[in-house]
Amino acid sequence: MSPTDQSAVRLRPEIIALPAYRQGKAAAASAFKLSSNENPFGPLPGVIAAVGAETAYNRYPDASASVLRERLAARYGCSPDEVHVGSGSVALLSQLILAAAGPGDEVVYSWRSFEAYPSLVTVAGATSVQVPNRPDHGHDLAAMAAAITDRTRVVIVCSPNNPTGTIVRAAEFEAFMASVPSTLLVILDEAYAEFVTDPDAVSGISLLGRYPNLVVLRTFSKAYGLAGLRVGYGLGPVAILDAARATAIPLSVTGVASAAAIASLDVDDELMERVRTIGIRRDTIWRALTEQGWNTPAPQGNFIWLPTGAETAAAAEALGAAGLVVRPFPEGIRISIGEEESVDELLRTCQDLVRNLPMGHSARRLG
Ligand SMILES: Cc1ncc(COP(=O)(O)O)c(C=O)c1O
Repeated sequence: MSPTDQSAVRLRPEIIALPAYRQGKAAAASAFKLSSNENPFGPLPGVIAAVGAETAYNRYPDASASVLRERLAARYGCSPDEVHVGSGSVALLSQLILAAAGPGDEVVYSWRSFEAYPSLVTVAGATSVQVPNRPDHGHDLAAMAAAITDRTRVVIVCSPNNPTGTIVRAAEFEAFMASVPSTLLVILDEAYAEFVTDPDAVSGISLLGRYPNLVVLRTFSKAYGLAGLRVGYGLGPVAILDAARATAIPLSVTGVASAAAIASLDVDDELMERVRTIGIRRDTIWRALTEQGWNTPAPQGNFIWLPTGAETAAAAEALGAAGLVVRPFPEGIRISIGEEESVDELLRTCQDLVRNLPMGHSARRLG
């Protein structure tokens, strides 16, 4: 062991034990990167021009991203103070958890879900309470409500859920909100909301102003294709957002990121056309997989979920060998909807995979 492998400095043991954030694997030039739920379309010319015009790098950015906040407030019919912008929605998750939960407190969320949740909770010094997904891979909101104790300070609801792609229905969510104390912060993480086509899905935007304890998170990383610039936003009651703002690392949303987000809102129609294209591609892939015999939940984000269980490592390897870099989890494989050219190979490889799944495997449709 080298002298730097283990520090004599007293660090928090729960932090030392944390796994480092595992980023979606990079892809070779000849492969398709379907591991990080990114948008396969590059930025539109107007967005590139807005970024290029933002050259005052010698100056700090506007700490509150006020122009972007005003723009979002006008879009959603709320006040700019009811909008909070962060360097990605993951930053907002961190701030909200820090604002509400500390040592001895609990944060409830469904599991498996977004892999950043456990570490953000640990960093805050709080304790994760993970409620298993239902057998259909969706959130078990009744079980989540039942998991709330006097120590619970935050509940995170993720719709569509990363990595399973399932949505929470509006009626289910409203029943859940009615059953939880209004002193408990509920975060509705809607990183993939723009891809949703199921009319029964919850839409945080339609609930704004209804609940004193609800914050809705959105991002420019996925539908808007700005993952590399890091900008996301939260919508909700001013007092909660003020608390989040108080925990934020100041000045972390750059002027370039704000400019790109504003320019993206200017070309919203074109971007949403791309989102529709990705949604159609997703549904085509899902239907083909279902015909091949896969038992996989109807996807509502920009990714599909193969619940391959014990077969995951071998299946991910086969996909990788076919030039498709995907994201394996212990329970299954998440595959982002990528370039059109990736689809044929994906379906060919999945056809072989489903044929080779053991009889009775839960990822195989019965009959
Ligand atoms: C469910 C969910 N929430 C939040 C995020 C964070 O996205 P960003 O920080 O890029 O806005 C992600 C990213 O993958 C996600 O899947």
